[in-house]
Amino acid sequence: MAESVQTAAETVHDVHRDIDRILIGREEIARRVEELAEAIRGDLEPLSRDAEIVLVPILTGSIIFLADLIRHLPQKLRIHMLAASSYAGRRTKSSGEPIVGSLPEDLKGKHVLIVDDILDSGTTIRRIRAEVERRRPRSVRACVLLRKDIASALSTKCEYIGFEIPNEFVVGYGLDYDGYYRNLPDIGVPKKEAL
Ligand code: IMP
Ligand code: MG
Repeated sequence: MAESVQTAAETVHDVHRDIDRILIGREEIARRVEELAEAIRGDLEPLSRDAEIVLVPILTGSIIFLADLIRHLPQKLRIHMLAASSYAGRRTKSSGEPIVGSLPEDLKGKHVLIVDDILDSGTTIRRIRAEVERRRPRSVRACVLLRKDIASALSTKCEYIGFEIPNEFVVGYGLDYDGYYRNLPDIGVPKKEAL
């Protein structure tokens, strides 16, 4: 394992070998996810009395974030996973138009919370928000764990943001490169030679 890699806790994963540096450690992630959930919980509380709450997490990057987040949300809610991909295969740049799976038709009158791992070009969140809005929900909000410091991400409407990060390609805590590194418990920048 490289000297530069500092893991926040005891488990050193094989995949840490390909990581140049940890950007956000697991304890920091856990603390922030709890804070985010607290904000969402407060906002959902009055809403849950008048209509059903549906979470729409975007596969596959949001799975770990979602799993941690929902355990801090006590409201009655449903989850409808949605497949979307703008980084398919061995890419570190968005391909532009994301490929989006099918949304349920019955979102009418419901409160929808879109959950994704990261806001980059913003096309995924913008496109899914527009699709959700066409189904006449009562409300639509979006929540991402990370937002890159680039104009397209900053200008995309998003109600809940975990961390602002520099414009670098990151992996871990659900985020992948070519399908790998999702199981890394921390968020890190991969070594150039790993890409
Ligand atoms: P956007 O549509 O360009 O905002 O891209 C959002 C999607 O691209 C996210 O859901 C991620 O799956 C993927 N993505 C964007 N940036 C990164 C990154 O730095 N690492 C891994 N995946 C990323
Ligand atoms: Mg994704």
